[in-house]
Amino acid sequence: MKHSYEQYLAEVLIDEATLQARISELGTRITRDYAGCDDLLLLCILKGGVMFLCDLSRHIHVPHMIDFMAASSYGTGARQTSGSVRIDMDLRMDVKGKHVLVVEDIIDSGFTLAFVIQTLRNREPASLKLCALLNKQSRREVDFEVDYIGFEIENKFVFGYGLDLDERFRNLPFVGVARTDALNDE
Ligand code: IMP
Ligand code: MG
Repeated sequence: MKHSYEQYLAEVLIDEATLQARISELGTRITRDYAGCDDLLLLCILKGGVMFLCDLSRHIHVPHMIDFMAASSYGTGARQTSGSVRIDMDLRMDVKGKHVLVVEDIIDSGFTLAFVIQTLRNREPASLKLCALLNKQSRREVDFEVDYIGFEIENKFVFGYGLDLDERFRNLPFVGVARTDALNDE
């Protein structure tokens, strides 16, 4: 039974002020890069990307649409990743001809995003770029270019700010490192 987040938290990795300052910077860059674009679509990968999408969107001063897609890895435990990814919920919009910016919480092995990218490319967007709040480069198994990265982090399991620890604590305003004993406590 999960009572409070404190018992699972080893340390706060990125505090709220640092997160928000970086998201504001990313929004400024994206605003500049997409200036004059009138068919920008922010595509949030559920569920982890939702907090990031909401805050980032408010710092993007170019008219834009938002939509959502859910993808997951399967065939392994919750914290393992495999090369098998499926789309649990597809987006509603037609991406053809739109400038799509994928908004993701974290890139670990890269399998999820690689699959999402391939799925979207087949639908002929005008352009396709990637924005991830967190990146664990040392864990990468499939390589692709990420256009906007909030923070490079070490190979530790993190939660908060959209990321879950067994589906809890996505609402925390900071990113924290989970205690290793918490990861074995089911
Ligand atoms: P990938 O396919 O290995 O890149 O996995 C990416 C997905 O795994 C992310 O979208 C998250 O949902 C999840 N994930 C990877 N690392 C973490 C973590 O440290 N905390 C919470 N979720 C994670
Ligand atoms: Mg995710």
